[in-house]
Amino acid sequence: MVDCPLPTSRIKPKPVVFQKYRTASPYRASGPPARTIHALKPPISRVAPSDLRDSDMTDSSGSCRWGVLGTASIARKVVRAMHQARHARPVAIASRSLEKASAFATEHGLERAHGSYEALLADPEIDAVYIPLPTALRHDWVIRAAAAGKHVLCEKPVAPHASAVAEMVEACRDAGVQFMDGVMFMHHDRFEVMRTRLPDLGLVPTFLDSAFTFRADPSFFESNIRVSADTEPLGALGDLGWYCIRMALVVMDAMPTVVRARHHELHREVPIHTTGELEFPGPEGVRIARFQCSFRHPLRQWIEIVGEHGAMWMHDFVIGSPTEAVIDLETESSLTEGDAAHRRNHERIVVNDCVQEVAMVERFSRIAAGIDPVDPQWPRWALDTQRVMDAVMSAAAEGVDVHLPAFD
Ligand SMILES: NC(=O)c1ccc[n+]([C@@H]2O[C@H](COP(=O)([O-])OP(=O)(O)OC[C@H]3O[C@@H](n4cnc5c(N)ncnc54)[C@H](OP(=O)(O)O)[C@@H]3O)[C@@H](O)[C@H]2O)c1
Repeated sequence: MVDCPLPTSRIKPKPVVFQKYRTASPYRASGPPARTIHALKPPISRVAPSDLRDSDMTDSSGSCRWGVLGTASIARKVVRAMHQARHARPVAIASRSLEKASAFATEHGLERAHGSYEALLADPEIDAVYIPLPTALRHDWVIRAAAAGKHVLCEKPVAPHASAVAEMVEACRDAGVQFMDGVMFMHHDRFEVMRTRLPDLGLVPTFLDSAFTFRADPSFFESNIRVSADTEPLGALGDLGWYCIRMALVVMDAMPTVVRARHHELHREVPIHTTGELEFPGPEGVRIARFQCSFRHPLRQWIEIVGEHGAMWMHDFVIGSPTEAVIDLETESSLTEGDAAHRRNHERIVVNDCVQEVAMVERFSRIAAGIDPVDPQWPRWALDTQRVMDAVMSAAAEGVDVHLPAFD
């Protein structure tokens, strides 16, 4: 495995290139060109959020009234983001216990607390719901939310298997509401910068390696929902591997055709350490994406993306820094005569001041508030990720290569 390397060999810095980032997102480059600070070694480009966002986003008219199903730990972070995001207004929380809902509402500045999830879905003054319930329980609540006309931001992994996701997506489509999963890194300004710079690596990315792991303590293995087949049957694969698979699909811009995987450890039938390998077709042969996810290893969340002419690295690709999110990029690097030293064209790109969960809530709220149209790319990403997840589970369980069919 390759960790996010900083240059240790002699660097021949490339002249600093003046850069401007364009994005395909609502956070489009419309301001002044991105500032490039003349760097020492390596060159550093800085991208400020004001360079990436529409000026019309300062308009505070039109906001999405949010409700949350379940007093989940992650809901604390997302409700905080709802308070900070433009076009968002966190309004209500529901819990199986009214007491818990009331305590959460008081602590997090919400107007209303409901003692059941049904009651929140019946609340006419809610436009969108955030659903961080355990994965095994989400299917029915997403379908009920869609039937109640609520837009749905659904935590990941979306469901235990792809047929459930297909039903959830279909229910939202039929109701004309947005469905999106909670992959926050896709809303970080760095994400569009990363996509824009992929062509620097070559015609297409040909290899990718990633890891998302953390070392869980004994109490986690006793009681956390992530290690119970009743609540999170995909374990570490669903909690952590989901991000590695999603990034592989984005970077390779395709679905894999062959999937191999191994569960190296199970805890009460739930995978807690898995590695996988996805094969993608390419213009010049097979392209590979590998990943490791685990509750047994130290916190790591790195990715390496390789093409014919170069490579890029992010050391925090899942939970991107809210202040200085870095991409390290090397192109046309080579060994000098006699292998005495490397010649490296290394560039460090720094994306400043983007809180990815706030960006996610803001993007979703614009849709729910009717400012932007419902966007079919989001349910598509969720369904494709879950299809690959299914293949990984089958490959690991049966110890065989799984060949994926072509999906429409
Ligand atoms: N996108 C991200 O960055 C991110 C980060 C962390 C977690 N997640 C995902 O979010 C989900 C929730 O994770 P979490 O750690 O926040 O979970 P958690 O703290 O255990 O919360 C789950 C909530 O679900 C409700 N619930 C309903 N039925 C339940 C049952 N049978 N057992 C347990 N809880 C039940 C509970 O709310 P009430 O008791 O109030 O009804 C509980 O507070 C997971 O799928 C996880 O993978 C995503």
